[in-house]
Amino acid sequence: MFDRVMGSLNYPVFIATTTSAGERDGCVIGFATQASIDPGRFLAGLSRENRTYRLARDAIALAVHAVPRERRDLVELFGGETGDEVDKLARCDWSLGPHGLPILDGCPSWFAGTIVSRHDLGDHEGLLLAPVDARYERGELLYFQDVKDVEPGHPA
Ligand SMILES: Cc1cc2nc3c(=O)[nH]c(=O)nc-3n(C[C@H](O)[C@H](O)[C@H](O)COP(=O)(O)O)c2cc1C
Repeated sequence: MFDRVMGSLNYPVFIATTTSAGERDGCVIGFATQASIDPGRFLAGLSRENRTYRLARDAIALAVHAVPRERRDLVELFGGETGDEVDKLARCDWSLGPHGLPILDGCPSWFAGTIVSRHDLGDHEGLLLAPVDARYERGELLYFQDVKDVEPGHPA
């Protein structure tokens, strides 16, 4: 029943990107929320199965992108494919951001945050982020109920 309740909720989905050891990747995350106002903090939950998590283990920062309503294709790419098999960043437009993070051209609202602590959440790890840069553009976003049919590239 817990799964049914969770599956009925609605919340924004994000694309988290990171870089370490000269590699870059990213994945869709729904387990993500602002966690503090002052100081500003954001908690991003990464599955230990994901390639993005493996990069994030040695990373100092993440970029977190809100996904425009018309960019379901980016959720299918970053949530439905794994970097273990597909070079996702070769299939979309992006530019270099703070700390060498890939910033997705298709997502004009984003922030970059340094990883200030890591937390065992179960099969996910929580990365607490302190924002260092951000951009905002008004627009409709994608939510979990819009994309929950996308089959994750990695089982959680
Ligand atoms: C709607 C949706 C929500 C997801 N939420 C999360 C999440 O909160 N954390 C996570 O690590 N993966 C989440 N995933 C799964 C990853 O995005 C997916 O397995 C991705 O293919 C992993 O790519 P990677 O192996 O290149 O990192 C979600 C996927 C979808 C479609």
